[in-house]
Amino acid sequence: MKISRSFLFFAVFTVILGYLGCTQQPVSLSTPQPDLNSETKPQKTYEDLIVGFAQLGAESEWRVANTVSIKETAEQLGVELRFLDAQQKQDNQIEAVRKLIIQKVDIIGISPIVETGWEEVFQEAKDAGIPIILVDRRATVPEDLYISYLGSDFLEEGRKSARIMAELVNGKANIVELVGTIDSAPANDRYIGFREVLKDYPEMQIIDSQSGDFTRARGKEVMAVFLRNYGNKITAVYAHNDDMALGAIEAIEEYGLNPGVDIKIVSVDAARGAFEAMIAGKLNATVECNPLLGPQFFELALKVVNGLPTPKWVPSIEGIFFPEDASKILPTRKY
Ligand code: AHR
Repeated sequence: MKISRSFLFFAVFTVILGYLGCTQQPVSLSTPQPDLNSETKPQKTYEDLIVGFAQLGAESEWRVANTVSIKETAEQLGVELRFLDAQQKQDNQIEAVRKLIIQKVDIIGISPIVETGWEEVFQEAKDAGIPIILVDRRATVPEDLYISYLGSDFLEEGRKSARIMAELVNGKANIVELVGTIDSAPANDRYIGFREVLKDYPEMQIIDSQSGDFTRARGKEVMAVFLRNYGNKITAVYAHNDDMALGAIEAIEEYGLNPGVDIKIVSVDAARGAFEAMIAGKLNATVECNPLLGPQFFELALKVVNGLPTPKWVPSIEGIFFPEDASKILPTRKY
């Protein structure tokens, strides 16, 4: 009798504690919990959302398509979008995040221009209760400082590029590499992924590797320097994006060689310009990196704001394209 009375007391006490919410854990930004009050509390819709987006710039055909996708999707869904363009400078992008925090937006999307240097400002957003979604590019920060990363597997893009290159050159080449923006996630990972596969091809050597900053103009300048330094020794170009490959094609033609024939070229993005170059026989392959992230981004944003769980990484689905199919596929390309 004594035992069952104390058990009863314990049970009642536990129920009361639970009712008062004393045992509830704080909800962390990194692990959004399902909204247990969803039946009583109205869920937000797209029309209720105020979304901030800190874009890094407009350096490439890819980036322009990415911006259009974000802006058009916001308009279609009726989301209020506060879009800021950092014009290729990390300081501007940090400032943009701070502006969006002051404006008390519901959520911030950002494509970090480089991987490092984000901890302080992401912490400020977290302290203000504003979740961050990384769009397209990762940042090297503790996982609790952002909700999800939406974007490509850049390492795999590097590996795919190397596998295609190995086939094109029958396992033997003197490669020059046009690297993207220094310290950016795609440049870092495409650099590493390419080399991982090259370990199996001892006769494929990277004879030089320089940054062309993901732009056509820099790609052309750097390729011209490679040609001045190595001339006919170069048999292949690996460009971290299509814009730099298109610049390299111009430099190779000006040097008097045939791009795609004398020098094999593989690049990343699969933008329209790459398809046109493949149709002209000047580019040998392009590995897709999908910029049309608007729909997935706003879907994620709405889930986060409504407290629904989201994966830490939402990968984009991507293919590889070759000259044989380029004319058929070009009309279907949206960027
Ligand atoms: O982060 C994605 C990369 O950034 C694209 O490959 C490149 O074209 C862009 O500038």
